[in-house]
Amino acid sequence: MTTVPVTLGSRSYDILIAEGALDQAATHLARFARGGRLVVVTDDDVAAAQLTRLEESLAAGGVAIEPIVLPSGEGTKSWRYLETLLDRLLALEVERSDHIVALGGGVIGDLVGFAASILKRGCNFVQVPTTLLAQVDSSVGGKTAINSAAGKNLVGAFHQPAFVLIDPSTLDTLPSREVAAGYAEVVKYGLIDDAAFFDWCEANGPALIAGDRAAQLYAIEKSVRAKAAIVADDERETTGRRALLNLGHTFGHALEADTGFSDTLLHGEGVAAGMALAFRFSARQGLCDPADAARVTAHLQTVGLPHDLASAHVKASGAELVAHMLHDKKMAGGKLPFLLARGIGQTFLAKDVDLADVAAFLDEERG
Ligand code: NAD
Ligand code: GLY
Repeated sequence: MTTVPVTLGSRSYDILIAEGALDQAATHLARFARGGRLVVVTDDDVAAAQLTRLEESLAAGGVAIEPIVLPSGEGTKSWRYLETLLDRLLALEVERSDHIVALGGGVIGDLVGFAASILKRGCNFVQVPTTLLAQVDSSVGGKTAINSAAGKNLVGAFHQPAFVLIDPSTLDTLPSREVAAGYAEVVKYGLIDDAAFFDWCEANGPALIAGDRAAQLYAIEKSVRAKAAIVADDERETTGRRALLNLGHTFGHALEADTGFSDTLLHGEGVAAGMALAFRFSARQGLCDPADAARVTAHLQTVGLPHDLASAHVKASGAELVAHMLHDKKMAGGKLPFLLARGIGQTFLAKDVDLADVAAFLDEERG
């Protein structure tokens, strides 16, 4: 069992990582119950795979759950399901000091976190992430959001959880495509500022995706320690340090938008292709050794992740993809900052990228 603290003054909390933690849920979560009751929000697929496990282990500790089960999928991060969820929470008379449990991937975590941030002007929530993506990234750091017609994650709030409980055994029921997609966010930490961790990924990534628990545990702990340090340093993405976590996301969001935020390209898959594009664009601009860009591309390809426009199923032109980027919430003064790289482990924020260069690069990539 490992505990990683996120140090944020009065908003500090712990991330507990333990194999089988869900089967000891009463030990870890009973303190968040009120009157022997915990409200647990999840989605259909997670309910089928993991909810009974949580329910039984909490019942053993005298805690009953009040489940709210929403549809699975990105479409649930929407105004419609935010309203559904808030109405259900109000009907259950959730109080400000209560803790709502988010059991699921990034979709449930982001939605529940946002609902918690506005319910009765803010109540508490606990993250119990069940996808690799959520265990290494989205459950930590307090970014919460829903999507709107204008784009992804454009409506949201910074709202930190009170606790994060990570049980890697939940990954045993996660489809392997989802495990691979979450692995993209693991690779991201190596590419940002830890070249030795990228070496580790090259050696261990395939085993991790195939279910090697020791590799999963190592990667989860390494990732959440990296994220906790960044969040503690720059909680609201004001100094530029937290922005490094967006490596691959500007390209990736454009690819996701072009594929309709659908199962054609999962979020983590978009990030994978986006990171490969960011490295190749960096090489094209003379910032990064092309050999590093080729290494990143080769690793993502080896583990079966999208690494270019074709493998991301994107046919749009450079201009069309750049048009998607203009909806990005990182736009500042009409400019779009990009995460580029001087090499593996040397990501930096570039504020003066010419979007015409980006469009030309994407047209070259399109072939
Ligand atoms: P997801 O939440 O949609 O989960 C993927 C699928 O797996 C869903 O169908 C879900 O029902 C199912 N599932 C989850 N856990 C399961 C399990 N253990 N067994 C069986 N099925 C399971 O997708 P995701 O990749 O976890 O999250 C993507 C979302 O996260 C995106 O909306 C993205 O914007 C967001 N995100 C947020 C942050 C942040 O910092 N807040 C960071 C990265 C991504
Ligand atoms: N996933 C990006 C962030 O948390 O800042």
